[in-house]
Amino acid sequence: MTQDNNIVWHQHVVTRPLRESNNGHKGAVLWFTGLSGSGKSTLAGAIEHQLASIGVKTYLLDGDNIRHGLCRDLGFSEADRQENIRRVGEVAKLMVDAGLVVATAFISPFQSDRQSVRELFEPNQFFELYVDTPVYVCEQRDPKGLYQQAREGKIKQFTGIDSPYETPLSPELRLDGRQPISDSLSHIIALLLRNNIIQMDY
Ligand code: ADX
Repeated sequence: MTQDNNIVWHQHVVTRPLRESNNGHKGAVLWFTGLSGSGKSTLAGAIEHQLASIGVKTYLLDGDNIRHGLCRDLGFSEADRQENIRRVGEVAKLMVDAGLVVATAFISPFQSDRQSVRELFEPNQFFELYVDTPVYVCEQRDPKGLYQQAREGKIKQFTGIDSPYETPLSPELRLDGRQPISDSLSHIIALLLRNNIIQMDY
């Protein structure tokens, strides 16, 4: 990895506070983490829909989609997952700078990688949402048939089977992945209101 010491940060005229003021809300990232099949993408999609329908400027970064493009060169080794999360963190940071509320749905199994992303942001910009669904439930759901393939040894290093998932130590929210989606959405909206990311009059 290279970094040119002769590259100087350019301070632009249009700043995040100005974009936020134009948008009528602040920029923030809702970082969903949890096992494959835990419900991250569903929740991220649902909260984005709810926010967009009240006029909030949003974007959704989803692991399966991002791995078709930006991260198509990466696999599931520890190093590749680390790079995956690093790239997504940087993209999310740009989007928060653009004044958006960004929802991300990545397993992001390693505490240190999630912590590194957190450190890219100011306090009150990064919200870690742990979608807590036991592995046996995810395996029963198995929406993409991947757990079965992992059990058959056809997929290696599958999170929850033969690759670890490190439970978040102090997420901003722990969401029970088996509760109704509407309950989780209420908790997320309350979190955004509490932190003045969005206003009540939306
Ligand atoms: S992460 O670990 O690097 O954060 P990411 O969220 O991008 O993972 O991608 C996870 C998705 O890739 C899963 O939802 C699943 O559909 C698919 N996948 C394919 N192989 C694996 C694997 N070995 N472990 C986990 N997920 C996998």
